[in-house]
Amino acid sequence: MGRYDEVYRRSLEDPGSFWSEAAGALRWRKKWDRVLDRSNPRQPRWFQGGELNTCENAIDVHVESGRADQLALIWDSAVTGQTAKYTYRELQREVATFAGALRRLGVGKGDRVVVYMPMIPQAIIAMLGCARLGAVHSVVFGGFAAHELAARIDHAEPKAIVCGSCGVEPGRVVAYKPMVDKAIELSRHKPANVIVFQRPQAEAPLAAGRDLTWDEAVEGAQPADCVTVSANDPLYVLYTSGTTGRPKGIVRDNGGHAVALKWSMTHFYDARPGEAYWAASDIGWVVGHSYIVYAPLLNGNTTIMYEGKPVGTPDAGAFWRVVTQHDVRTLFTAPTAFRAIRREDPQGVEIEKWKPTRVLRALFLAGERCDPDTLKWAQERLKIPVIDHWWQTETGWPIVGNPIGVEKFPVKPGSATKPLPGYDVHVLDEEGKDVRQGAIAIKLPLPPGCLPTLYKDEATFERAYLARYPGYYLTGDGGHFDSDGYLSIMGRIDDVINVAGHRLSTGQMEEVLASHEDVAECAVVGVNDSLKGEVPVGFVVLKAGVSRPEAELCKELVDLVRDRIGPVAFFKTAAVVAKLPKTRSGKILRGTIRKIADGLQWTMPPTIEDAGALDEMGKVLTRLGYPQKTSGESRV
Ligand code: COA
Ligand code: AMP
Repeated sequence: MGRYDEVYRRSLEDPGSFWSEAAGALRWRKKWDRVLDRSNPRQPRWFQGGELNTCENAIDVHVESGRADQLALIWDSAVTGQTAKYTYRELQREVATFAGALRRLGVGKGDRVVVYMPMIPQAIIAMLGCARLGAVHSVVFGGFAAHELAARIDHAEPKAIVCGSCGVEPGRVVAYKPMVDKAIELSRHKPANVIVFQRPQAEAPLAAGRDLTWDEAVEGAQPADCVTVSANDPLYVLYTSGTTGRPKGIVRDNGGHAVALKWSMTHFYDARPGEAYWAASDIGWVVGHSYIVYAPLLNGNTTIMYEGKPVGTPDAGAFWRVVTQHDVRTLFTAPTAFRAIRREDPQGVEIEKWKPTRVLRALFLAGERCDPDTLKWAQERLKIPVIDHWWQTETGWPIVGNPIGVEKFPVKPGSATKPLPGYDVHVLDEEGKDVRQGAIAIKLPLPPGCLPTLYKDEATFERAYLARYPGYYLTGDGGHFDSDGYLSIMGRIDDVINVAGHRLSTGQMEEVLASHEDVAECAVVGVNDSLKGEVPVGFVVLKAGVSRPEAELCKELVDLVRDRIGPVAFFKTAAVVAKLPKTRSGKILRGTIRKIADGLQWTMPPTIEDAGALDEMGKVLTRLGYPQKTSGESRV
């Protein structure tokens, strides 16, 4: 039996001893009474009775154990040309002072704080400052517009909002503060304070009595000590797209999260304390929470925070510059970033120039399907292990991957490799029987670090994840196990799409389109895109009697989605159709539309209400630039 088999088996057969051993790597203020409490079998709780502070483990522990002068954080902003470096001691001072500032504004244990910030160090300081107080942060990605921010404010009911005055995207400065003002105007809940970090690119006006600048907030604030919290107290709530317009508030606890992340750094990523670790993502996503902020710091690494893009800031050598300048040993990003780099630099000239693999040991890709072409290109150009791995906001850390810190398996392009310890992964058919290809589900209990519930929404937690297969957590992805136990992820089995590694809901976009006064009904599907993986395309049927130029209406629809959801939705294409293809029971045939758009073989569904609607859809897709490769030849 190989080392992986042994470790994996032990994690499932004796999870108590497995995870209590892993928990020994952290500092606890009170040891847990029970490693795994299954008194509610549907919602197991890890480290019941244990007490700790996540910020203490991420910073203070290192300051006290010889890493005080080691760099904890390097900020590299390709869009502004700035860098900043913080040792663990400096980060401790900044975080404790900011926590003191929050405390002075009345923020305490259990209170929520919304963080709406660009990729600047103050975002990390704000998150850790909350963790220090036992307050619950809820970070909202900067690419979401005011309506989305308002929805999260209403649900999380924060005492305060921390924002940057602006973000810097290539070629434009995005003012964040007006978005916050508009969101507060739209929301029923009104936070007492807004702390604004003023950036010189666009300073923001302040509302008297409510807003204060970051500098004003920290001026004279007494540094705060770490507050003891229970292992099961929430560390954060991160909203993610589900199948409806309402985002799901994923709750992360303190104890299990810290244990799982720390374990993953050495056993999965093979990242050694003291090294520079770079997750090229955004703090607004789970990858940013786990692998820009918490895991590298819990593990005593130097985390890199990058404000920029893989290309265009200024060129396709941007990643390789950062890797070489900051001695990055482990790089984690989304395949779309590599597709962008490859498109601009197919021969890898920039790789030759910077020679990143003089320092870089491994590249990890996740967040969306990793197409074999991109994987092979990265392997050939870099000549280091390129590791696809699969996980989701709900789990907080990888479910399936190639655990190079335990045992390295041969890479099979198209597969994320094997289930990681703690995850009893099954592929189930409609009846819940194990099959080679089907819905991916994880047998309960989920390991530490995974969501214990949805914030203020137990019912949706049960319905969306637990009800489909009793005793299992439904991941929402479909997959296929091969005879070597390698799992390939085949894509979502619900209405979630993945655009440039960003998780979005087509249902939510449909709600926005349906709110337009001229739209009777609509459908949004994700279609393949060679750079972004998927992009949304919308189809609308006009209300009876409405006749408008298509281009004008579609522009309004595109603007509406940008205004309501934000630029991140990347909704750029819409078309008017006379009828949506549906089954006789009224279900829109989104899957079939998708297949036609992707040029895949498709079957005329026997239950179709009107075959003409699908033919029309085919013509519209051809007009939009999605030629049907197999239409007519093989309607199997
Ligand atoms: N604040 C405001 N706007 C933002 C934003 C932010 N934080 N992030 C993105 N946007 C905007 C962009 O400016 C763009 O607007 P536009 O349509 O007006 O140009 C839109 O949202 C889409 O952004 P993005 O997805 O970044 O597309 P892009 O075309 O600018 O860049 C890639 C394409 C592939 C380079 C980019 O998507 C990328 O680097 N992806 C990696 C994704 C990633 O790290 N995912 C995290 C999971 S690991
Ligand atoms: P998020 O919650 O934003 O991290 O998105 C999670 C979703 O992204 C998953 O449910 C998958 O659909 C997709 N995903 C993430 N990683 C991979 C991967 N390695 N391969 C295929 N799909 C992935």
